[in-house]
Amino acid sequence: MREDRDELKRQRAYIGKMREILLDREKREGRKLTYFIETMGCQMNAKDSEKLAGILEEIGYEKTDQETEADFVLYNTCTVRENANTRVYGRLGQLHSVKLRSNPEMVIAISGCMMQEPDEIAKIREKYGFINIVFGTHNIFRLAELLYRYETEKRMIVDVWEEGDRVVEDLPARRKYFFKSGVNIMYGCNNFCSYCIVPYVRGRERSREPGEILREIECLSREGVKEVMLLGQNVNSYGKTLEEPVSFAELLRETEKIEGIERIRFMTSHPKDLSDELIDVMAGSEKICDHFHLPLQSGSDDVLRRMNRHYTRDRYLAITEKLRKAVPGISLTTDIIVGFPGETEKDFEDTLSLVEEVRFDSAFTFIYSKRTGTPAASMPDQVPEEVIRKRFDRLLALVQKTGREMSGRDAGKTLPVLVEEINHQDPSLVTGRLTNNTTVHFPGGEELIGTIVPVKLLQSRGFYYLGERA
Ligand code: SAH
Ligand code: SF4
Ligand code: F3S
Repeated sequence: MREDRDELKRQRAYIGKMREILLDREKREGRKLTYFIETMGCQMNAKDSEKLAGILEEIGYEKTDQETEADFVLYNTCTVRENANTRVYGRLGQLHSVKLRSNPEMVIAISGCMMQEPDEIAKIREKYGFINIVFGTHNIFRLAELLYRYETEKRMIVDVWEEGDRVVEDLPARRKYFFKSGVNIMYGCNNFCSYCIVPYVRGRERSREPGEILREIECLSREGVKEVMLLGQNVNSYGKTLEEPVSFAELLRETEKIEGIERIRFMTSHPKDLSDELIDVMAGSEKICDHFHLPLQSGSDDVLRRMNRHYTRDRYLAITEKLRKAVPGISLTTDIIVGFPGETEKDFEDTLSLVEEVRFDSAFTFIYSKRTGTPAASMPDQVPEEVIRKRFDRLLALVQKTGREMSGRDAGKTLPVLVEEINHQDPSLVTGRLTNNTTVHFPGGEELIGTIVPVKLLQSRGFYYLGERA
């Protein structure tokens, strides 16, 4: 999928028009206007929010943390779990009363995965008429145009596309950190895991051209970025659908060559597409971080089959063993779902035993959510809530125990830390990460933020280290 330069020009023109409107209001009111974005969900949404914030800042809005006072409020939604939607409507209701009471000019916008569901759009039109702008995941680059239409038409603007047939990169983005950045390498997902809504709301898998990705990373490097996170729902199948197919391993090799980039991460990998070529590239790489997030979902072959995951527990185990051998010290993390329809006590024990065998550094554990619109929602034998709760607690206890045992393994060593911020609790400390993603706190000041420094790991405190500069 190639970038659309004409659309980029159109959007820049809308940014200009909106800037004039804003300048006018600034003059009248004698103040800057502000925006607030609430980001829900995964790294894709976080990246989209940075792009949206970039457009807003280019128009002239300033960021604020005070939602109730902001002139423009946006909820960038996630819909991966059923109850998330209910929560969003609750918050919208509260926001509406704030608007009525104290901020009548507030513009309210909503975007993200939830907006790709036609039922939600119908509901918004019917019951949430106070929302001003509604858009989906395929057209975030149009924010300035949508704002302009709202300003000139003063009615609810709804712009949701079923599929994303265009990419418009190169609009300004506002990065949360100046020294690290996510980079979209592909959009959408073709896997249709039977519990998951993502393929329906993010559309079919589309890879960006490698040249365009590398150009973006080179640009980031010139701006001072040291760490990139390559983003996709299934990065291991990157490039397969391009006119001239390229493998993910090849893209990594090229990324590695970019001067100034010192750390490379990626998210998320699907075990079914994980190649030996990728493991080889990792083994020989100076820059690819010693961390692999490899969602397991379940340790039972029967459940994995019904989840449509296309791998077995043996294959999963074999991959993790290969990774451990090829990249000594690598940290492995995962996602696990408890209570998939038909999950028996035996199936669940298979998950426990695999967790014990692999020994993850950490795991995100999820209670199965019956997501309307997915095949699993209509499968027989939905597991009762009390049973799921108990299993969830057992899994969590095991995951925390192995996590704690694994995380102290580098105590005493001196390792490079990329410093990210001043410690939230103790401002005499800074907080950073090892390449295996473990957090380290050590004495230091603001000038270290964005640099990589050697730190002696003095003490392991469960999931983080206390250290000192070496
Ligand atoms: N593309 C990524 C994951 C995206 S969603 C992958 O394949 O790994 C992130 C996680 O949410 C998934 O790994 C899964 O564990 C969880 N998840 C997705 N749908 C869910 C559902 N219906 N109920 C509970 N957890 C779910
Ligand atoms: Fe969802 Fe599966 Fe695609 Fe991940 S790979 S986004 S879990 S369908
Ligand atoms: Fe949620 Fe959409 Fe990500 S549904 S998990 S924000 S792709």
